[in-house]
Amino acid sequence: MATLLTVSVGLPKDVDWRGRTVHTGVWKQPVDGPVMLRRLNLDGDGQGDLGGHGGEQRAVLVYQQDSYRYWAKVLGRDDLLPGQFGENFTVDGLPDDEVCVGDRYRVGGAVVEVTQPRVTCYRVGMRMNEPQMAALMVAHHRPGFYLRVITEGLVQAGDEIVKLSTGPEAMTVAELDALLYLPGHSRADAARALRIPALSPGWQASMRGLLDQADGQEGNAGLETAAAPPAWAGFRPLTVTALDEETRDVFSLHLAAADGSPLPAALPGQFLTLRLPGPGGPLVRSYSLSGTPGDATYRISVKQEPHGAAGTYLRANARPGLVVEVAAPRGTFTLESGDGPVLLLSAGIGATPVLAMLHALVASQPDRAVWWVHGARDGSEHVFAAESRELLAGLPHAHVHICYSRPAPQDRPDRDFTSAGRITADVLRGLGLPPDTSAYLCGPTEFMQDVTAELGALGLDAGRVHSELFGAQAGLTPGIAAAQARPPHAPEGAPGTGPAVSFVRSGLTVPWSPAYGSLLEFAEACDVPVRWSCRTGVCHTCVSGLLSGQVAYAPEPVEEPGDGNLLICCSEPTTELALDL
Ligand SMILES: Cc1cc2nc3c(=O)[nH]c(=O)nc-3n(C[C@H](O)[C@H](O)[C@H](O)COP(=O)(O)OP(=O)(O)OC[C@H]3O[C@@H](n4cnc5c(N)ncnc54)[C@H](O)[C@@H]3O)c2cc1C
Ligand code: FES
Repeated sequence: MATLLTVSVGLPKDVDWRGRTVHTGVWKQPVDGPVMLRRLNLDGDGQGDLGGHGGEQRAVLVYQQDSYRYWAKVLGRDDLLPGQFGENFTVDGLPDDEVCVGDRYRVGGAVVEVTQPRVTCYRVGMRMNEPQMAALMVAHHRPGFYLRVITEGLVQAGDEIVKLSTGPEAMTVAELDALLYLPGHSRADAARALRIPALSPGWQASMRGLLDQADGQEGNAGLETAAAPPAWAGFRPLTVTALDEETRDVFSLHLAAADGSPLPAALPGQFLTLRLPGPGGPLVRSYSLSGTPGDATYRISVKQEPHGAAGTYLRANARPGLVVEVAAPRGTFTLESGDGPVLLLSAGIGATPVLAMLHALVASQPDRAVWWVHGARDGSEHVFAAESRELLAGLPHAHVHICYSRPAPQDRPDRDFTSAGRITADVLRGLGLPPDTSAYLCGPTEFMQDVTAELGALGLDAGRVHSELFGAQAGLTPGIAAAQARPPHAPEGAPGTGPAVSFVRSGLTVPWSPAYGSLLEFAEACDVPVRWSCRTGVCHTCVSGLLSGQVAYAPEPVEEPGDGNLLICCSEPTTELALDL
């Protein structure tokens, strides 16, 4: 019979951590006497970051006394007190390798159900003063688990924990945790996990990712977006074969292999990265492919920004015969398979990746319903106007809406453009999009935020709305209090003497310094937006594109990311690097 040894609660508080403020509920204190367990929390308990903890599926965190004994021995610690792992219930019994997801238990006056293993993050490392704790809990198969509350009721230390039923498939917490995080993911087991209705929606999505992972594909499709490995490593020379003038400030370059052999096919929506000579060192910039996916050559279309370094270089130097260094097509903003309706929505130069998707639809799925929505200032800035018109004419189920924010006198309503003004909520509502539409958006950041919100209001599932940003992605820093964002910059203090690290989306190249513990810490010192959670090589939240170069891992990640990617939280450069950050 298992027993509830301690009930611990704690409300979130602000904690100083490496010069930043973390809002966290990981500090729990034991309470005497009965405590009411409700659907979302024990009375007096709370979580600081509801994105990663808490909510109905993660109302109660459970950890075992036996694991306390284990860690005391492994870590050589004699100071571990109940609640130390951030748990609410410290229990005798209920080991992770016996408790199954979907098991139901009566505890005091409450009935609870196991929903998922604990997802470890850096905060357990903070609380334990052991930065690698998140990885250790996974590697040693002792994560602990979460409960959902089926019947609310009073609970208190000393209550017996009575098992009422076993979850279907009888998959233990330790088994599921290893299935997601450790190498060697079995598709059959992922399918088993998906037959457990109690498994939380987040874990179900990860299991679907594992189930869909292609044979031989490296990386962890349960934790990172699956993508085929890049067609070549680093940069290779390609030759400019032709130039097209698209509008006053946009021109296209056609690129071919030096020996004329066909270039590897890219997926519609992917981008190339060019390394160009610049006055203060190389300029590394990405450009979406705008031509027909599968052509023997590539086409990119460049907008020359006023004072833009790479655009100005290409405008001045690009002519047939120029050789440029190019990294292989990459990116996960790609047209998904399926035959449902598609919305391709762009503003300005953001048309490039969705134009490649339009080419792909015309070539292989002309019967699909397609909405092409584009915003430009006027006819003189309307990129690919003739090309897109011709392509759309080849799609019998195409719908078109072109917005000119400031039409010129010679622009013809209903022929050149559909409505004057920007792409507004009214324009989107007027499209009559079916709710199962998959949307692909590319344009300025604010524009995409507004459009994404509006598409959600129109009933489109967030999972069907994909977007590409022509700059740094939004960061993800769980629990860190918001601070004024600074544009990316070289780190404070004397410059490092290590290899050059290019943060390509941020347009910053700086020499590495071993004073930083990882590329993540280095990026943070440069205010380059980054995404992370465990900071110790387990969760793959920090996975980033490695465009060129090599890194060494310390500590070794629990599982390496897919080819062409790296985990920045536990790596440092061994050569010059170009990162898609
Ligand atoms: C995945 C991805 C795909 C992309 N696809 C495309 C694409 O298809 N086509 C495309 O054109 N771009 C694309 N981009 C953007 C592209 O990579 C470059 O960031 C962009 O073209 C600007 O590069 P630049 O070197 O010309 O300008 P930068 O030198 O990087 O300058 C950036 C901005 O700062 C301004 N600026 C620079 N110096 C000054 C100064 N002294 N005074 C005032 N302002 C200044 C410039 O006007 C410009 O707006 C993409 C980016 C990503 C990440
Ligand atoms: S932040 Fe979790 S693997 Fe890097």
